[in-house]
Amino acid sequence: MFKNTIISEFFTTINFSVYLETVWFLSYKLPFIRYWNSTLELENELLSYIWNTDSKIISFYNARSAIYHVLKIIGVKESDEIIVSWYNCVSVSNAVIQSWAKIVYSDINETNLWLDIASLEKNISKNTKAIIVQHTFWKPAFIKEIVLLAKEKNILVIEDCAHSLWSILDWKMLWSFGDFSIFSTGRDKVISWVTGGFLIINNKAYFDKIELVKSLQIMPSRTLTLQNLLYNISAYKSYKVYDFFSIWKIIIYLSRKGKFITEILSQNEKKCNFRDFNYKLPNSLAFLAKKQLQKIDEITHHRIKLSDYYDKELNNEYFKPLFTKMINEENNYFRYPILVKTVELKEELYNYMKNNNVLLWSTWSKTNIVPFWTNIDDAKYITWTCSVAENISKRILTLPNHTLITLENADKIIKLLNNFKK
Ligand SMILES: Cc1ncc(COP(=O)(O)O)c(C=O)c1O
Repeated sequence: MFKNTIISEFFTTINFSVYLETVWFLSYKLPFIRYWNSTLELENELLSYIWNTDSKIISFYNARSAIYHVLKIIGVKESDEIIVSWYNCVSVSNAVIQSWAKIVYSDINETNLWLDIASLEKNISKNTKAIIVQHTFWKPAFIKEIVLLAKEKNILVIEDCAHSLWSILDWKMLWSFGDFSIFSTGRDKVISWVTGGFLIINNKAYFDKIELVKSLQIMPSRTLTLQNLLYNISAYKSYKVYDFFSIWKIIIYLSRKGKFITEILSQNEKKCNFRDFNYKLPNSLAFLAKKQLQKIDEITHHRIKLSDYYDKELNNEYFKPLFTKMINEENNYFRYPILVKTVELKEELYNYMKNNNVLLWSTWSKTNIVPFWTNIDDAKYITWTCSVAENISKRILTLPNHTLITLENADKIIKLLNNFKK
């Protein structure tokens, strides 16, 4: 009953102040949950936080909508090809497929999960319209090389910064290299306000498209907005009672069954058949967002402190930290991935940690397109065309470093990991 389980899966919305702010919204501010004039303020605050004075910004209900709309802004046609990394979330694949362009998957680099340049060059054709460059888990992609290559071939670059808000390469923030960049503030991102996405337009040739996109956007229904706010209540409560019999399972089950909360991905998305991309970010979520943005440095420094500790102390021949910190980077350490020698060992390690009450994060470790129940055929992937991604993704586990993890927890995790034997 009192196991004190350490949970890696964590959303920054699970904290007492967000819980209280949500309760406040759901009581005193209930009539205004959709129309509270915070979205515009948030857009300006985000731009100023990322030191951006020259770009345009549009907020969306989530980042997948931003991806869909950027493809519409650049005017993709059925014959156009969009290159994406084959270690990705299906929400990205679905947005590309729904734009009507042809999706082309490119393999990743073995050591750093970057979009591999050699594979990318092979995949570029005369029909390539854009490359979506994802900075996976925090690690900056080969973005400078990709931008050079793309310029040479007249291809647009969209930086997917869903995992990399705060991170810097060569004294430039990640977002500032491409023609466009995308941020996500979904519930499991660098900072979160349950759902939210942003498109930053850096390429001035597309500035005039912003009004057209805004004219297509509609406010989510009151029910959908409420479901997002209720998620904060349900998640906080279930996290708090995690070790108290199975009450958390009952809370989550009832919240899902009663449709009191939203799901991260709909069934349609898993079949790449989801088309609701026109929702705005509701103002109540934008209001919570501003509070989260003010805490981003605190949240990130905590992640960095624990990740440095793992870097220093981790010592086991069966696995190693996946990423190496470079001197020209500053990173948010959104995730701390380790690469295990074999898939079987990874399963053993996961179960060993679970038996010792540590749940490692494994959502991105079962398949290279997540979640693992995604229909690969619908995502238009041909098996083994990206063999590195297929191999590596199954050997990754992620250590917890979020704000509820203490140094004592990290110490326990390190001792367990270092003592792990076959
Ligand atoms: C790399 C990446 N890009 C984009 C997205 C889509 O973000 P959102 O959930 O805000 O639509 C995700 C979602 O997990 C992601 O991991």
